[in-house]
Amino acid sequence: MPEEILEILFREDQIRARVRDLARQITNDYAGRQLVLVSILRGSVFFATDLARQIDLPLSMDFLSISSYGEDSEGVVRITKDLEENIASKDVLVIEDIVDTGFTLKYLLRTLAGRNPNSLEVCALLDRRARRIIEMDLKYIGFEIPDKFVVGYGLDYRQRYRNLPYIGVVKPT
Ligand code: IMP
Ligand code: MG
Repeated sequence: MPEEILEILFREDQIRARVRDLARQITNDYAGRQLVLVSILRGSVFFATDLARQIDLPLSMDFLSISSYGEDSEGVVRITKDLEENIASKDVLVIEDIVDTGFTLKYLLRTLAGRNPNSLEVCALLDRRARRIIEMDLKYIGFEIPDKFVVGYGLDYRQRYRNLPYIGVVKPT
């Protein structure tokens, strides 16, 4: 384990078990329907592909990339890579790595809702409620976490640590 990792919050086996539970719930909730999983690049990719493999439904996967304009511009986000699929009248499940203030998701959900999907829900791996500014309804949550910066299982600090198989707290530098 890199020495900058101060603490492990969720081990690989804990993540795997939680992903399986979420997938089972999603499989039940969307029975008889066809899902579009929208994975937000890059942080949610590990989560989305693991989740998709455990969902027992016909589904498609699409990817969307957004960038925020930095710390002082909360809520100002822009799409840098858009979906390839038309989501009109589809059942869309947005897969996000972590919901913090909620600004990113709020913007994204507003944009996607404007494309008239049949349904639009969120599955977030991590929820850091302590920092939430925009209240929103998250249908599926992997884990709630304390107010600490985390990396691993897709989440990065300056593009590093995404490949760690666990989720841990990184030493701020
Ligand atoms: P929000 O707009 O404040 O909800 O920020 C959410 C986005 O910030 C996530 O999609 C992540 O890309 C990033 N982020 C927030 N907290 C963390 C963290 O602890 N580790 C890695 N990325 C984070
Ligand atoms: Mg992100």
